[in-house]
Amino acid sequence: MCGIVGFTGKREAVPVLLNGLYKLEYRGYDSAGVALIQDGRIETVKTKGRIKELDEKLQSIGGFKSTCGIGHTRWATHGEPSDVNAHPHLSDNRTIALVHNGILENYLEIREMLKAEGFHIKSDTDSEVAAHLFQKYYKGDPIDTLLKLSHRLRGAYAFAIISADRPGEMFCTRRDNPLIIGIGEGENMIASDIPAILQMTRKFIVLNDGEAARVTPDGVTVYNDIGQVIEKEINTVTWDLSSAEKGGYEHFMIKEIMEEPKAVRDTVMPRIKDGLPALSECGLSDDLFRGIRGIHIVACGSALHAGLVGKVMIEKLSRIPVTATIASEFRYSDPIIGPDDLCIVISQSGETADTLAAMREAKKKGARTVGVVNVVASNAAREADGVLYTWAGPEIAVATTKAYASQLAALYLIAVKAGLASGHTTEEEAKKYCAEIARLPELIEEDLKLREQLQKLASLYYNRDHMFYIGRGVDCAAAQEASLKLKEISYIHSEAYAGGELKHGTISLIEKGTVVIALACDPALYEKTISNVKSVKARGADVILVTNGDFKPDGEVCDHVVKIPETSSFLSASLSIVPMQLFAYYVGVARGCDIDKPRNLAKSVTVE
Ligand code: G6P
Repeated sequence: MCGIVGFTGKREAVPVLLNGLYKLEYRGYDSAGVALIQDGRIETVKTKGRIKELDEKLQSIGGFKSTCGIGHTRWATHGEPSDVNAHPHLSDNRTIALVHNGILENYLEIREMLKAEGFHIKSDTDSEVAAHLFQKYYKGDPIDTLLKLSHRLRGAYAFAIISADRPGEMFCTRRDNPLIIGIGEGENMIASDIPAILQMTRKFIVLNDGEAARVTPDGVTVYNDIGQVIEKEINTVTWDLSSAEKGGYEHFMIKEIMEEPKAVRDTVMPRIKDGLPALSECGLSDDLFRGIRGIHIVACGSALHAGLVGKVMIEKLSRIPVTATIASEFRYSDPIIGPDDLCIVISQSGETADTLAAMREAKKKGARTVGVVNVVASNAAREADGVLYTWAGPEIAVATTKAYASQLAALYLIAVKAGLASGHTTEEEAKKYCAEIARLPELIEEDLKLREQLQKLASLYYNRDHMFYIGRGVDCAAAQEASLKLKEISYIHSEAYAGGELKHGTISLIEKGTVVIALACDPALYEKTISNVKSVKARGADVILVTNGDFKPDGEVCDHVVKIPETSSFLSASLSIVPMQLFAYYVGVARGCDIDKPRNLAKSVTVE
């Protein structure tokens, strides 16, 4: 979703801004632009489409010597993707350029007011009003103006601003949208995300809600929401630029799938001590699990799918009731949650607007919150009472793979911990589970050897219009994620169903040539799933069976068997999902899709 970059220093700003925008491409966008202070005036160059087009446009215009500017990638919400709707937006008198991430909820009312006062509104966006409003409030102090803007605007935002009368200076503020300031030597940057600043520095400040900053080549001054100067901690990025580059792979997605063993290893190994899960420092103590009435998992997309697996595992091992709810539903449902409950929020980015809102709702009702989060110092990580980081490293492909894998691993540890604390899992059993979890990276390595088989299967079925995924228990939860991956990457319509539910309506869609992928990785449920498979096979489906059991592709039950490494059903979702991610990847490649940046999708969804 939209990306912000800003630079001020002694060298030319355009190459730095473009480099930063390229690094933010993965967030998803459909237009882009930059604004520069040049000879006391503000110049903007914007274009619908890719950064490459903006790059070409800037080159063809040429002559940009400015050392200070802001840039933006826009993911359309209000108004179609177009040059005019692209950011930066200018104030009416063309002295202010502004980029915005988020959604301004009261923009219509402000727009009418501005129009009545004679301002000329050029775009359909909510963001443009902020530029005009800035002009209206501006009396020579940009920080004071930003604070006024914050009071007047409702909604979520991160703003970066340059003003023609302040060459070399940038100003920014945020509420419910991420913004960091990269600290260099004689040069500084503003960005919505770390990859954009890594070209210059590994040091950064995280701006909190309501704070504003003035950024010059030689310094950064941060103000609180009443305009007082405050001290900020300087963080250091622990991963390097190469982790955010393709490293010889054709796409980030396949690179990140191949990185799953490492992601899982880094997530679990530091948290297994003396053979048992050590999670107290994440806020997950034995006492916490002993005292709670229930656990509520809230998340969106794949993170929710990880939560569905977590629900099965935590309930199985601890008998503590667990709900796993879509964050956007949870937040408006007046959820039954209170001081006796634990709310686990799962989020790769830690910035998903609905997930954050759901967490705040749970907190407001007195629940204890723990975030399973990948991005260090993100909103979710900072706001939750405890945080269990998934050390997957930067994930660039929009469709998550390694972050999902590490979320599952983190949830297994939570399940064992809850089981032990609640007394439903013995220490001996817990040690056995932990030993299995510790073996996961090795098993995933083995799993990845299925790559060629999945590529072949993809070549057989990539041109089908519909695919169904079925499974029971934990396989049903994994099927949801398998199906989402296919949809995201290949644009093939697909649905995931509980094996036993298919017959209640959806089976009417199965006909000759429909592809059904059945996940059967729990020996206790093999027979049940195989009966479901037979019923679709009898109706002409082409069936791929993903299993750790000993099945043969006999043409009666299934056409192909994808044999994943054997483990107990406890960990099977981690092993069944790998071939499914590979399948989605190769189907997407065969269809010529934009693998790392699928249409209409954003990596981090910071709007409702
Ligand atoms: C977007 C991404 C998904 C992701 C979801 C939740 O929709 O495209 O891949 O699962 O957001 O994101 P989060 O950062 O909260 O895990």
